[in-house]
Amino acid sequence: MLAGRRILLIIGGGIAAYKSLELIRRLKENGTEVLPVMTEAAEEFVTPLSVSALAGHRVYRDLFDLVDEAEMGHIQLSRTSDLVVVAPATANLVARMANGTATDLASTILLATDKKVLIAPAMNVRMWNHPSTSRNLKTLLDDGVLTVGPNEGDMACGEYGPGRMAEPDQITSAIDAALMSGPLNGKHVVVTSGPTHEPIDPVRYLGNRSSGNQGTAMANALSAAGARVTFVTGPATSPLPGGCHVVQVQTAVEMREAVEDALPADAAVMVAAVADWRVRRVSGAKISKTVDPGESARPDGDKKGLELELVENPDILAMVSSSPDRRPRIVVGFAAETHDVIERAKAKRKRKGCDWIVANDVNASTGIMGGPENQVMLVTESGVEEWPRMSKAEVARRLAERLTEALTG
Ligand code: C5P
Repeated sequence: MLAGRRILLIIGGGIAAYKSLELIRRLKENGTEVLPVMTEAAEEFVTPLSVSALAGHRVYRDLFDLVDEAEMGHIQLSRTSDLVVVAPATANLVARMANGTATDLASTILLATDKKVLIAPAMNVRMWNHPSTSRNLKTLLDDGVLTVGPNEGDMACGEYGPGRMAEPDQITSAIDAALMSGPLNGKHVVVTSGPTHEPIDPVRYLGNRSSGNQGTAMANALSAAGARVTFVTGPATSPLPGGCHVVQVQTAVEMREAVEDALPADAAVMVAAVADWRVRRVSGAKISKTVDPGESARPDGDKKGLELELVENPDILAMVSSSPDRRPRIVVGFAAETHDVIERAKAKRKRKGCDWIVANDVNASTGIMGGPENQVMLVTESGVEEWPRMSKAEVARRLAERLTEALTG
């Protein structure tokens, strides 16, 4: 998808700008033409000379550069590429985009463009977590802007957390996904993925073995088919999909809120292994294992254990399926079972009110949970289809095909 395409790359003024040099190199290696635009602040971090040398193209810098206006006006510049990429997208640039201000060449291009825009946010963790940034980002997502990252990790400022710009490879994949046009163009799909972690105390949680592999594969297949994907994921080990709007959560309650925020959508594919229960009273302090010696003897010889009271978590699939005004056209649930797979899946489809159930056998002997392959049955109103064992990516591709038929047919 990258070869022969043209990217307008806006480099914002953040320390992560140095990674944009590597991004340009990757894109060029893939045969992509890069038109670089730098903000004034970006020039404090990387020089226009390095950028133009790597891009093999002059750098556009100034809105009032009359030579440019004669040669290529900012309106034309904003429309001659296949995709506009902002990397790094600083907090300031994100805020200006969200408010539609056009105070320099970069923000004017972003306001004038009729092309898809992909941003790679990069900022200090507190700036990223600030309510203003969350609001601005939500505005951009509602406007259809695509995001990649940020990642969590050590930051140049010495702090730790989310805010590191996605790596050049991730941005390249996200660009690749964003350039794909497919039958699901213009459709929005919400995908949930991974396990949820339900806290017991500040250091312990209830969780499960879901890797998030099937959910990531599903999101990748849907964006490859051209859909705009909101990917709501619990703490999974699988890599995040590229070119999707990613919302990372820990608990089922947070996942429900993120899914509610993401609606409306044309389809929802709930792959997440949501914990069925959460602990009613989460301890604010680490629970100590010290027990009163007088209470330690039980008939089975074990010491007195810890009793946790569990309460049921919200059923997100059932909630989305029964939404009176925001039910997606197609709602798909997954059913991981260890016995009576088909019967239980059929019952689950009815009980939850979803359209399709993708059922699979997760007995340890199948190697499916956490593994690269899956063997599923698709349970719909018209019956049960047994699919052969195949990679999770292939299951996702086939499901995306079926969703395409259902949404566009
Ligand atoms: O009832 P069970 O957990 O087997 O249902 C599995 C399906 O329901 C999956 O699609 C899962 O994502 C979804 N689910 C949910 N919220 C829950 C439990 C399950 O969305 N609390």
